[in-house]
Amino acid sequence: MATSQLLLLLLLLPFILNPFPNVAVSGVGINYGTLGNNLPPPKGVAQLLQSTLIDKVKIYDTNPEILQAFSNTGIDLIVAVENSRVANISSDVSSADQWFATRVLPFIPATSITAIAVGNEYLTSNSDHQVLDPAALVQAMQNLHSVLIARALDRKIKITTPHSMAVLASSFPPSASTFATDLVPTMTSIVAFLADTASPFMINAYPYFAYRDNPDMVNIQYALLGNSTSTGVRDPKGYTYTNMLDAQIDAVRSAVGALGLGPHRTVEIMVSESGWPSKGDTNEIAATPENAKTYNTRLIERAQSNKGTPMKPLDKIEVFVFALFNENKKEGVASERNFGIFNGDGSKVYEVDLSCQFCSGDSGNGGNGGFGEKLSGAVRGPSVWCIAKPHADEKVLQAVLDFCCGGGGVDCREIYENGDCFAPDKLLAHASYAMNAYYQMHGRNYWNCDFKGTGLVTFSDPTYGRCRYPQQ
Ligand SMILES: *[C@@H]1O[C@H](CO)[C@@H](O)[C@H](O)[C@H]1NC(C)=O
Ligand SMILES: *[C@@H]1O[C@H](CO)[C@@H](O)[C@H](O)[C@H]1NC(C)=O
Repeated sequence: MATSQLLLLLLLLPFILNPFPNVAVSGVGINYGTLGNNLPPPKGVAQLLQSTLIDKVKIYDTNPEILQAFSNTGIDLIVAVENSRVANISSDVSSADQWFATRVLPFIPATSITAIAVGNEYLTSNSDHQVLDPAALVQAMQNLHSVLIARALDRKIKITTPHSMAVLASSFPPSASTFATDLVPTMTSIVAFLADTASPFMINAYPYFAYRDNPDMVNIQYALLGNSTSTGVRDPKGYTYTNMLDAQIDAVRSAVGALGLGPHRTVEIMVSESGWPSKGDTNEIAATPENAKTYNTRLIERAQSNKGTPMKPLDKIEVFVFALFNENKKEGVASERNFGIFNGDGSKVYEVDLSCQFCSGDSGNGGNGGFGEKLSGAVRGPSVWCIAKPHADEKVLQAVLDFCCGGGGVDCREIYENGDCFAPDKLLAHASYAMNAYYQMHGRNYWNCDFKGTGLVTFSDPTYGRCRYPQQ
């Protein structure tokens, strides 16, 4: 095969493997909370996430900078009405429309907004020690839905609300779970609304907290998404649970079923948050990087599979991992600030494979080198660069280098003899320089740093000595 044909094939490969990048690929969601004073700018976050298997992001407000940053990225966004705004939106449809028209409408369709989460754990939260009015939640959801119908957007954007597990009276055994008695009228309205609008029931499910509060009664492997029946739990109705997350999901399923909506009105259950902290206070002994890595690795594997739960083995569960970043300004116990997979500088808190075998054409061995890997002499900043993966195949790298400096149009003089980037005279270094220049020239889209899976987007400026890596 002629070199040019090979190159064309290399560059087209991602599209051949996955001609419909937004369809039928089982991606993973992540929660992007922003209660930190050391977090990268949203634009950098959006660009970095594009090189991973994460294709859905949930935020906790309608931060315009974030909505703007995720435009034209192929990543779906779930935005939220803050608990403190729910009352206003519940008061009348025009208040709901005003919120929607100013906070959401300006960003669509460039930003793919698929759902609005109305409040977060609203029914189990206090506001200034006042219990929030449950009726306002239902009314706010209905008002926003009316707004969407009026604007013919109700089929594109779903309205829902995430709940904590505390909405249940009890979660064990899963088949006998019900909602807390005082919440039953509100839950009946919410579930009917979700069924009628084909919107998911969102649950924030944390085996971590159940384990932390009852370490003597809960097997750690059961909490850590283990898969063994020997550490598992049997439900009197005959279901066997090998892990607590499945049990929590089915507990919610039973509670929804107990509302008696009828057999033809069903709601999908979605895990809007789940995760495990890597650090905690001294009494939070299970909050370790090892456990966090185990839990989140298994959670991500699970999210990519089509696996259901013992009660509904064929109903795939969508999952949003909590969370993208450690958030150093969060209140509460230490674990609250340590649920993140990433530090503010884009480095990983512990190793988790987020490589995307579908969107990069990489055969799935990514993870080495990783995402946002820190290089020595790194500076944190709003910029992103593209470099060669440390263990990339040399033949492919050479082809990429030849392409960049040839047809790709990169000015490669700096990596030739006497150039500032000639040393070290190594393929990896030269390819990195050329790949970055190509990536910067072509608008820094994730596919511009693909190079058949040999490219890696990074927050860290690879510049060294007199060798400067240009940026946009
Ligand atoms: C809701 O908030 C908007 C914007 O702050 C305000 O203009 C509107 O009057 C409020 N609606 C009610 C009913 O308080
Ligand atoms: C259980 O997990 C182990 C380790 O992750 C894996 O090797 C094994 O295949 C799993 N077994 C089942 C039944 O899923």
